[in-house]
Amino acid sequence: MNVTPLPLKTLESDHRDIAVFVYEDAGLAGAKALSNAAKVALNAKLHEESFKAGAKEVCRVDLDILGKHRRVFAVGLGKKKGSTSETFRRAAGSLLGAIRSKREKVAVLCSENPQAIAEGLLLAAYKYEEYHKGDADKLTSAAIVIQDSGARVALEKACARAATYASAVCFARDLVNRAPSDKTPQSVADLALTLEGSGVTVTVMDKVACADMGMGSFLGVARGSDHPPVMVHMVYKPKASTKKRVAIVGKGVMFDSGGLSLKPAQSMEDMKCDMAGAASVLAVFKVIAELKPKIEVHGIFAATYNMPGPDAYKPGDVLKAMNGKTIEVWNTDAEGRLVLADALCLAAKQEPQAIVDLATLTGAVVVALGSKVAGIMGNDSRLVSALKAAGKRADEAFCELPLVEDYKENIKGNIAELLNISKARGEAGSIIGGLFLQEFVDGKPWVHLDIAGTAFTSGESATYAPKGATGSPVRTLLEWLGAL
Ligand code: BES
Ligand code: MN
Ligand code: ZN
Repeated sequence: MNVTPLPLKTLESDHRDIAVFVYEDAGLAGAKALSNAAKVALNAKLHEESFKAGAKEVCRVDLDILGKHRRVFAVGLGKKKGSTSETFRRAAGSLLGAIRSKREKVAVLCSENPQAIAEGLLLAAYKYEEYHKGDADKLTSAAIVIQDSGARVALEKACARAATYASAVCFARDLVNRAPSDKTPQSVADLALTLEGSGVTVTVMDKVACADMGMGSFLGVARGSDHPPVMVHMVYKPKASTKKRVAIVGKGVMFDSGGLSLKPAQSMEDMKCDMAGAASVLAVFKVIAELKPKIEVHGIFAATYNMPGPDAYKPGDVLKAMNGKTIEVWNTDAEGRLVLADALCLAAKQEPQAIVDLATLTGAVVVALGSKVAGIMGNDSRLVSALKAAGKRADEAFCELPLVEDYKENIKGNIAELLNISKARGEAGSIIGGLFLQEFVDGKPWVHLDIAGTAFTSGESATYAPKGATGSPVRTLLEWLGAL
């Protein structure tokens, strides 16, 4: 699928189908290309079909319009008040759903929110097909119509940006959807190596290299699996040299069985998604040369399985992280923070001005915020605000949870410095996760995104996101990096 600008003149000379967006209470949205007479005729037809323009509603009518007899798809936006770019992204997703198997070409007549429309089309066109090839979509390209040549450059930019964002999101979705045994740490490291070139360098640290660096916390988790762990460190350097540097760090637990603190069967079902943080980091690096941020970006992820194999780490074990802190393991299912501890130490060592970690860290965040809102925590209010603002631009929601100082008491160990779970069981699980991670960032400005609820859903999460991996929060990260 691709989405490109189409001059109105070209549209007038061919027969392709067109699509318009319609508000429930305010009529056509940004359909400047249509004359008043055409609008009247279209509205009359839509009225005949009892089209109400509610969200998700799509209606097809045939009429003479823009010089030809055409099929016109009208897509509902719902009420105008409170509508946002997300309204258009979802409507574009509905449109794609209605036409994916039917038409070869469609031209969208809408001068508002072109990037969101293009994203909605591209993201809705996504199917996970690594194991099962379905019927090929007939719709291979869509176009957004430009009325006047002045708008051309802006529309081209919007389409290009949408393509970059969608290719990153779909890349993350593919990886997260992949079966857990088919994404060993080594195979994902190999994938990272393929991203080398055009400003990106990749270092893969094997078990021995990690041990040399003192990553005892990460390696503790990895002990239960026969597949060796890897720590992957990617660096993007912009052409113009800069002292500005940020790091993004992902949790890469390729499957989380819980380890010896084994999860019940049902809680384990979707645990191939426990590498969504790492997949997001990889996805950013897949398109970083297209995005061309002006700053140096470090992408780090720790990849392992969490399994109860013969040499698995045990409740009661004490692990030592790269910064020397010792951790008493009370529950081997709180493995994400142990894996991230060393990844964050490595990130802090790069002396970045900001660290952002992404992790499917706690079930508690799913209870608190559900599948549409991710948790955000951090030690620097400006950085938290910057990520929230980027989330707002990308229409991905984040809700801040406080890193309550008093709760630190609950992760003080008996025989080591830290505990990997709280003594106050069942209380503030996501905050506890954040407080634990904070111990490993060496005081650097840092934000933690808990994406356990948002990265993977058991039902369709939007018209443009089928069930399974959503690819969130990749668009937020790209927005943030692009604005730095
Ligand atoms: N990977 C899970 C968190 C998770 C839950 C991700 C649901 C996606 C959906 C994490 O490693 C975990 O098991 N967390 C435990 C922590 C507890 C033992 C303190 C949890 O949330 O139950
Ligand atoms: Mn776990
Ligand atoms: Zn986990």
